[in-house]
Amino acid sequence: MTWFFLFFLSIGLIKEGKCRDNEDFPFRNISLDWSIRVDDLISRLTPHEIIDQMAYGGGWNDGVTPPIPRLNILPYSWGTECLRGDISENSTGFPQAINLASTWNKQLVKSIANATAYEVHAHYNVYRREGLYGVHRGLSCFSPVINIMRHPLWGRNQETYGECPYLSGMFAIYFVHGLQGPLSARYLNTNAGCKHFDAHNGPENIPLSRFSFNVQISEFDWRSTFLPAFHACVNAGSYGIMCSYNSINGIPSCANNRLLTDILRRGMNFTGYIVSDDDALVFINIEHHYVNTNEEAAIIALEAGVNLELADSPDATMFELLHKAYDEGKINHQILIERVKPLMYTRMRLGEFDPIEMNDYNKISMDIIQSDLHRNLARQITLQSFVLLKNQENLLPIHNPNRFSNVLFLGPMSNNPIQQYGDYSPIVDPYYVTTPLSSLQDCFLNTSYNEACLDGTRCLNYNQTDIINYLKINVFDLIILSLGTGQAIEGEGNDRVSMNLPNNQSQLLEDVLNTINSNKTKILLLIISGAPVDIQLAEESNQIQAIVQLGFGAQELGEALKMAIIGDGISKFGRLPYTWPNKLSDLPGDITRYDMTSGFTYRYSNVEPLYRFGYGLSYSSFFYYDLSFNATNIKPGDGLTIYFNIKNIGQRISDEVIEIYLSIHLKNTSLANVSLAQLVDFERISDINPAEIILYQTIIKPEQMAVYIDGKGFLILPATLEFKIGNFIEPYLSGDVIIDGDSYYVGQYISYASI
Ligand SMILES: *[C@@H]1O[C@H](CO)[C@@H](O)[C@H](O)[C@H]1NC(C)=O
Ligand SMILES: *[C@@H]1O[C@H](CO)[C@@H](O)[C@H](O)[C@H]1NC(C)=O
Ligand SMILES: *[C@@H]1O[C@H](CO)[C@@H](O)[C@H](O)[C@H]1NC(C)=O
Ligand SMILES: *[C@@H]1O[C@H](CO)[C@@H](O)[C@H](O)[C@H]1NC(C)=O
Ligand SMILES: *[C@@H]1O[C@H](CO)[C@@H](O)[C@H](O)[C@H]1NC(C)=O
Ligand SMILES: *[C@@H]1O[C@H](CO)[C@@H](O)[C@H](O)[C@H]1NC(C)=O
Ligand SMILES: *[C@@H]1O[C@H](CO)[C@@H](O)[C@H](O)[C@H]1NC(C)=O
Ligand SMILES: *[C@@H]1O[C@H](CO)[C@@H](O)[C@H](O)[C@H]1NC(C)=O
Ligand SMILES: *[C@@H]1O[C@H](CO)[C@@H](O)[C@H](O)[C@H]1NC(C)=O
Ligand SMILES: *[C@@H]1O[C@H](CO)[C@@H](O)[C@H](O)[C@H]1NC(C)=O
Ligand SMILES: *[C@@H]1O[C@H](CO)[C@@H](O)[C@H](O)[C@H]1NC(C)=O
Repeated sequence: MTWFFLFFLSIGLIKEGKCRDNEDFPFRNISLDWSIRVDDLISRLTPHEIIDQMAYGGGWNDGVTPPIPRLNILPYSWGTECLRGDISENSTGFPQAINLASTWNKQLVKSIANATAYEVHAHYNVYRREGLYGVHRGLSCFSPVINIMRHPLWGRNQETYGECPYLSGMFAIYFVHGLQGPLSARYLNTNAGCKHFDAHNGPENIPLSRFSFNVQISEFDWRSTFLPAFHACVNAGSYGIMCSYNSINGIPSCANNRLLTDILRRGMNFTGYIVSDDDALVFINIEHHYVNTNEEAAIIALEAGVNLELADSPDATMFELLHKAYDEGKINHQILIERVKPLMYTRMRLGEFDPIEMNDYNKISMDIIQSDLHRNLARQITLQSFVLLKNQENLLPIHNPNRFSNVLFLGPMSNNPIQQYGDYSPIVDPYYVTTPLSSLQDCFLNTSYNEACLDGTRCLNYNQTDIINYLKINVFDLIILSLGTGQAIEGEGNDRVSMNLPNNQSQLLEDVLNTINSNKTKILLLIISGAPVDIQLAEESNQIQAIVQLGFGAQELGEALKMAIIGDGISKFGRLPYTWPNKLSDLPGDITRYDMTSGFTYRYSNVEPLYRFGYGLSYSSFFYYDLSFNATNIKPGDGLTIYFNIKNIGQRISDEVIEIYLSIHLKNTSLANVSLAQLVDFERISDINPAEIILYQTIIKPEQMAVYIDGKGFLILPATLEFKIGNFIEPYLSGDVIIDGDSYYVGQYISYASI
């Protein structure tokens, strides 16, 4: 530790541009091709220098790649986090990833990634000038998270884009493009690193540790559910991929040659770098017991395909053991050259070896952080991420707040600026943070506030007698009840034990319903959580008129809520990117079960949920009509164009999210257990006026019609394609297309999503 601290300080003093006498090395010659420059650079490194360049990928006390003064190469900090904003202090706090997904708005998600990259680069420019290196000071994002949300109790559901591989893959593409900037540009703004590869979907800690958990998956589920979003990420040009903590069918991901080399590099043509999850390499030995020594862990990871190690301490840095292994002839120079290549290429494309002034991203200043532009962007996306779950008697929107003379803000999430973030958020300057209470209280004539749970969201300290008396003595005509989990209840390393509202929060809900006279008091329930909680009671009760899922709305939560529910009522709500079950027993098994086809997610579940995947109300309503296809009989391998119209038949300007699902009914049903339905297209259309008609047209690509057949790969087979438009349970429109002819081979891996 002490040694490390000194190392840290000493490199902190190296500043840019001290000596310019080496600039005629070909690797710094900007008129040469990137590949020539990379090869030249690596040819100048000794095997031991290469190892050091691969051993420090980030992590708390770690993460600074050492300088090579003889080549005038500076230290380099790899890691930072860009999940929903630059994780650095005081950056703009965009809403959690699950909120980004619930917007179903591709361009807006790309804008968030772009804004995040700008803020990361703004910070980096300061660090670079001051010669500061270390954790979260690099340009290489360990983001996005594109694992599939598969079980409500997983603590990290909130970091994902939900349960659908197509939706996740689509957002992976837009997020990667946003972080990296235009692929045609000479420089990357930041680089993406999709994680966690692969089949890393819980548990974190209950009932087993993520560090040693072994995922058992079928080849069908692996290829149909857990690989496609990563394939989309690769196709989007991500420079990084992070291998995960878990084992897959007995082999730790970061030691898994089939996963990292056969599937990722050969099967998907990935040419970037693979970074280990934090300490995942030492865990190959001490958690998975897959090898017997740390040295073996280092060698097996290197050979499997890992380029860069992320570790938390010098003791846990396995790649340092490669020095001795190399000296003893256990690994050769060639594999080191291969592994370091994508690392140096990435650094080169981030501009490290070009003159600073050539790269416009190096001019980004700190002014953009919490700029009006970024705060407005955060507010817009937060607004579009809220999901209206229930709205009886048109309680919302509240046109005239003065119709309520006494309003109560009740519950532990009413004014809880910390808990409404979710994990991997920047530490936001409190000045910019708004809550339901802080933003809405001035809208009403007379408001009261009662947190009810004296210890906040955990709600272990709840005085039932007090609350019941309070509700009896005072008469309110509107109660805004804010319940939920917060990051104290769900997060990284922190699974939930049940789907219930935390502790006495469910008691609070019952007490409200048992005490309030619904003829006098309206109730709006706000849920702040990253995943479903049990609110069956609230859905079924006529006393609760409206429910809005706010997710982890972060800094603009309050202001966006005000825009959503008060005033003119332009409807900007989102849709659920996951299934909201009635109760845990709706699921086919616990969090350790990975057999998707047994009934996990909308794709395989026959159980009617409380709210289906893709569900969400608006203040208006839409009529879908005139469905047609450019062909109703096609051959395997043909594409398809779908046309239909939608009309706003309600009274209000509203966004609409178009969802198209495909159910493939194979002619030979014994070939595979295909999903019940698969999202194949979605589009959010903004601000549709009353009576306005939208003519929608979209293309379904052949690979979206493919089914994985064991031992063969993805095939397009004779089938009836049943398209369901609107939703897959009771679609607004549906139509069949017959597909017949010789089977068509698509590939071993598909991405579903592409643009
Ligand atoms: C850079 O490469 C170009 C193209 O090969 C060459 O003409 C030029 O002399 C090189 N510049 C330096 C400084 O070596
Ligand atoms: C963040 O903002 C607060 C309040 O404006 C300020 O005191 C603090 O120094 C800032 N921190 C950084 C790292 O800029
Ligand atoms: C990316 O963000 C920057 C900084 O806010 C902005 O100037 C630029 O227009 C954005 N670019 C895109 C394509 O959104
Ligand atoms: C990978 O690259 C090869 C050679 O360019 C190409 O034939 C193949 O289709 C590519 N595979 C994928 C999955 O993109
Ligand atoms: C509810 O609150 C009471 C009193 O604060 C506490 O003793 C009890 O453990 C809590 N119950 C639950 C289920 O958390
Ligand atoms: C609940 O509040 C009442 C009235 O304020 C008080 O008398 C009682 O002791 C409290 N109960 C607990 C368990 O704190
Ligand atoms: C405001 O509401 C509280 C709580 O219901 C009530 O005691 C108080 O009289 C109200 N004040 C006015 C001015 O209506
Ligand atoms: C609410 O009003 C209806 C109709 O006026 C009445 O029948 C009902 O008893 C009232 N409910 C309560 C709880 O007061
Ligand atoms: C229908 O549209 C798709 C997508 O554009 C196209 O590939 C296909 O050839 C078209 N089919 C016919 C019969 O025109
Ligand atoms: C359907 O598929 C099964 C499994 O591959 C095969 O045994 C059977 O012969 C097929 N049936 C027809 C009619 O092709
Ligand atoms: C379909 O699922 C059933 C029940 O789980 C299983 O027995 C059967 O082998 C599966 N069929 C295929 C083709 O995977």
